Amino acid sequence: MVPPDMADPDHSPNASGVAAAPPADPIQGSLVYPIGSRVNDAGHLEVGGCDVVEVTREFGTPAYIYAEDDIRSRARAYLEAFRARTDDFAVLYASKAAPITAVYRVCAEEGLSVDVASGGELHMALRAGFDPSRIYLHGNNKSEAELRQAAEAGAGYLILDSFDEIARAEALLDHPQDVLIRITPGIEPSTHGYVRTGGIDSKFGFGLRDGQASRAIEAVRGSGVLRLVGLHAHIGSQIFELEPYVQAIEALAELAESPVEILNVGGGLGIAYLDEDEPPSIDDYVDVKVRGVARLFDPLPRILIEPGRSLVGNAGITAYTVGTVKEVPSVRTYVAVDGGMSDNLRPMIYGSRYEALIANRVGEVPDTRVTVAGMHCESGDILVRDALVAAPRVGDVLVTPATGAYGYSMANNYNAVPRPAVVFCGGGDARLVVRRETYDDLLARDVE
Ligand code: LLP
Repeated sequence: MVPPDMADPDHSPNASGVAAAPPADPIQGSLVYPIGSRVNDAGHLEVGGCDVVEVTREFGTPAYIYAEDDIRSRARAYLEAFRARTDDFAVLYASKAAPITAVYRVCAEEGLSVDVASGGELHMALRAGFDPSRIYLHGNNKSEAELRQAAEAGAGYLILDSFDEIARAEALLDHPQDVLIRITPGIEPSTHGYVRTGGIDSKFGFGLRDGQASRAIEAVRGSGVLRLVGLHAHIGSQIFELEPYVQAIEALAELAESPVEILNVGGGLGIAYLDEDEPPSIDDYVDVKVRGVARLFDPLPRILIEPGRSLVGNAGITAYTVGTVKEVPSVRTYVAVDGGMSDNLRPMIYGSRYEALIANRVGEVPDTRVTVAGMHCESGDILVRDALVAAPRVGDVLVTPATGAYGYSMANNYNAVPRPAVVFCGGGDARLVVRRETYDDLLARDVE
């Protein structure tokens, strides 16, 4: 958690820029927790106006708890940042970050479009009520079935990723289809190697430097059904620098010899996982992208971006119950919770770091260094190493913030652990939007 003396009021998304005394509440104003989070009179963490401890009593743990208004306000921040700079744009929710029907609905209601990366995400987006014309289908290996599904649904755009896919789409489609071509611009931002996507050595897209991108453009131009409307580049995720986006746009400009209708400049904006993280604001991020495009493209194309993490990441927390506290003398104290690598794989895959907080005693001094372990049969099942929390006890509600993106979406059933519930909080009301899996769900696909 944020020690009061470290809380920086300028981190507040609503920061006025006016210097103020640090808030007494260590949560209020934190960039890591959902907007509007605070400590309530009971000394409990409050998210979306709801007491997190009460939410866990009602819905159990582990639970992914989202502040619905946080997602809405970030969606609006994106739209407003664009509206202030251009009329012709679309903000696509990169739904791999949290493919949850209720999240798709919120994004559709806020006027966003949607990036789907599989037939499953496409199915969910349609069911959630997205207008098909606002759907963009991604993927480096779309199957015939997925291409057919997209065509039958009337999905607005395919983002073509390979020569095999161009051939497959051509052979399969009998109606004109708008397509963008995914370019691999050869840019390597500073982020984890697993989430860099724009380098030359990538499974995604058509290389720029090796001439593949130009060949792909020619191939699509020669097609009877595929209508080339634009170019796409996404260079990676959880990026704090803004310069690589400019370089990616410059690379796209090199390629485009004739006017481009649509330029999709991807997602990637990093978020605060730790109190000390200082990601760029949504406004600065949009500014860099729009200015980059405006400088190099004339006439100005429609500009698309695809944020995932920065729409939903800080909107969500995960709440667990502490089950055991084990001290290894002179080594460390393990606090084991009732989830772990089945609900948050990020620490194990990327070495991602998180904050931790005892939600039922937020007012107490966080003076105990602990390692938060999951309940899975694996030593690597560590959620947070060396977290500073109020001395934990069995039965405490332990929260890890900033788990709204790529937590639920990468959840799994390791050790036959049912996946958590998803709860939306807003205006003091908590509602279940995805129920917890049951043991019977674990058997539901058995055929004998
Ligand atoms: N567009 C494309 C084509 C993408 O591949 C991605 C993310 C996005 C947009 C959204 O990027 P964002 O705004 O969320 O950075 N599982 C990893 C993240 C993988 C990201 C994959 N692509 C993690 O947990 O960090």
